[in-house]
Amino acid sequence: MSDIIPVRFAGTGSYLPEEVLGNDYFEKILDTSDEWIATRTGIRERRRASKDENTSILSANAGRAAIEDAGLTPEDIDVIILATATPDHPFPSTAAFVQSHLGCVNAAAFDVGAACSGFLHACWIAAGQLQAGMATNVLVIGAETLSRFLDYKERGVCILMGDGAGAVVMTKAEREGQGILHATLGCDGTKAKHIWIPAGGAALPSSETTVAERMHYMQMKGRDVFKFAVVKMTSLIDEAMEKTGLSPDDLKMVIPHQSNLRIIEAARERLGLPAEKIAVNIEKYGNTSAASVPITFDEARRAGKLASGDKIMLLAIGAGLTWGSMVFEL
Ligand SMILES: CC(C)(COP(=O)(O)OP(=O)(O)OC[C@H]1O[C@@H](n2cnc3c(N)ncnc32)[C@H](O)[C@@H]1OP(=O)(O)O)[C@@H](O)C(=O)NCCC(=O)NCCS
Repeated sequence: MSDIIPVRFAGTGSYLPEEVLGNDYFEKILDTSDEWIATRTGIRERRRASKDENTSILSANAGRAAIEDAGLTPEDIDVIILATATPDHPFPSTAAFVQSHLGCVNAAAFDVGAACSGFLHACWIAAGQLQAGMATNVLVIGAETLSRFLDYKERGVCILMGDGAGAVVMTKAEREGQGILHATLGCDGTKAKHIWIPAGGAALPSSETTVAERMHYMQMKGRDVFKFAVVKMTSLIDEAMEKTGLSPDDLKMVIPHQSNLRIIEAARERLGLPAEKIAVNIEKYGNTSAASVPITFDEARRAGKLASGDKIMLLAIGAGLTWGSMVFEL
């Protein structure tokens, strides 16, 4: 086994907007059905941010809960890393707004863009900063307001996504053996257009034409992404087991990105795990991209399903295409 990175998750938090959009909402506006959505994706409902909420607001709500859970104050945070694909504005970073909302006056703040695997990328950066002694308390957030970037005429995409935020406070380990046992990240940029928003950036600024052609909305090659995700999940699991020398039985819980229940089931079968060892909440929230892993982690912790000393695996695949996995001892 490679060296442990001696860090810990000192607190977690999450925030879901109040409005619930059931599959029946889409039945009214699209040629789809609750039966199709539930069978093909596992999703029954998802949340939608109110008009007064955006990514920085969702982030601040989740971040506040994580800071409280860690027994810290906003002044104790020295870095905020926000993973999001749905920033409030092209610039400044959404993390800058979060820093202000939370009153984290001593914190540097920046965004990380790796879509659905963004939270794992952000944790990886935080772990490096902590290990190098460059930070003491890092607030890592995954948050999305995907509803603002969805084409509600595109039935293969809009039914999948939801809004929400999850957060953790990472700090140094407090005992031997605690920390990150394995972490890997990757990207295949040849597939950058598998999931993307074509317009609104420097390559194709917004114009009347891009808006008329609905190019400011998220587009996805769903079937290609699905196949890629199943294969990549399998190889990430195999690699993590090999590098750590652990067996799936040693894991207390696997927390996968919530993209499609069929993808999660493929991972569970690969590991040969019983249903209770793989965290699933996709039926309630849909795919919340960078927010899905930290929301699910927070729910499992607050439900008393995880305890200090447990070994946990996080897994995600997202636009880029990017991916990441992490095994840690809580
Ligand atoms: C999007 C996804 C649910 C579609 O499921 P699928 O089984 O692959 O379905 P396909 O895209 O092949 O489409 C099959 C048919 O269903 C139709 N369809 C798509 N969305 C539909 C909907 N909401 N309701 C009813 N029919 C739908 C398609 O038009 C297609 O019809 P056709 O055969 O007449 O052309 C699935 O591909 C998926 O989950 N992909 C991965 C998404 C993902 O993980 N993205 C984020 C990565 S982090």
